[in-house]
Amino acid sequence: MIGGRRTVLYAGGGLVFGICFLFMLYYGKETFYVEGTETLSKEYDYHVVLLVEETGNEYWRMIEKHAQQTAEEHDIYLESIGPEKADRGEMLRTMDQMIAAEVDGILTQGLPGPRFRELVEKAEDKGIPVLTVDSDRPDSERRAYIGTDNVEAGRLAGEEMLRATEGRQRVGIITGNLESLNQQERIRGFEEAVAGRDRVEVVDVRESNISEVGAAEAAYTMIKQHSDINALFGTSALDGIGMVQGVEDITVGERPFMLAFDILPETMTLIEEGRLDATIAQYPEQMGKKGIEVMIDVLENGYTEPLQHTKTKVIRQGDVAS
Ligand code: BGC
Repeated sequence: MIGGRRTVLYAGGGLVFGICFLFMLYYGKETFYVEGTETLSKEYDYHVVLLVEETGNEYWRMIEKHAQQTAEEHDIYLESIGPEKADRGEMLRTMDQMIAAEVDGILTQGLPGPRFRELVEKAEDKGIPVLTVDSDRPDSERRAYIGTDNVEAGRLAGEEMLRATEGRQRVGIITGNLESLNQQERIRGFEEAVAGRDRVEVVDVRESNISEVGAAEAAYTMIKQHSDINALFGTSALDGIGMVQGVEDITVGERPFMLAFDILPETMTLIEEGRLDATIAQYPEQMGKKGIEVMIDVLENGYTEPLQHTKTKVIRQGDVAS
């Protein structure tokens, strides 16, 4: 009798254990199976690196998104890396590591200073082509530059200021970083466009460190120091947005004429609301797409046109809706 009960007990226990085991297998797979892990072993044609100035920056995220899409269409494994906040030293170290890892190609912002040139040479010696995007470094061995013609973009800003203003303009320029070639070129283009017109004069140039807060502070101090500033030009993507904050904190009455750079959603809203006058559009999505296409060209044919400019254009209030 006792033996029979024990058998039932064991059978029941065994059944419960069996059911639990099956559940564990099923839900364990559902929980721990990471979808897409099979892609890790997928064979790619090339491993390309995109080295960006700031991973947290919306402008760079647009370049990255379109480069990624194009890379996927062409069976390229694209690794996008860079510092969270602009840090040139970190970018150079990462570039060196990527060369050591013998990736197939490097797409990077062109950086100032001798180390960048050395690294491009080192990469080329190892057969790793380097392309610059967004900012060029024509005195290096990079194969091509894909991005805005920055002198032309600066010129467009200068012409827009001449077109849209009357009378004496005392201009404050807020720039991402004075060492970056793209920022220097935008300022040069602007100065060339207004040269010879006595009514427009640049009275101060300050850096924002490509941050919104930096641009707000720069605008605030500039206006405090030069009470006659009546026009501002911000030369990198977050400068216009920051400038508006700085200006709205300090000005009573008529605000300065304000030109920004890039078409981030917030910039477009400020233009629509009449809090910025115009912006110079760059097309980061084209830079990302074309960057990968040019890289394929170089990897497969060994040559490409060294200068591949993407579009640039003035955007005013009337253009925002479209
Ligand atoms: C420039 C980039 C820069 C970004 C910063 C853009 O206008 O082309 O070089 O990293 O602004 O927000």
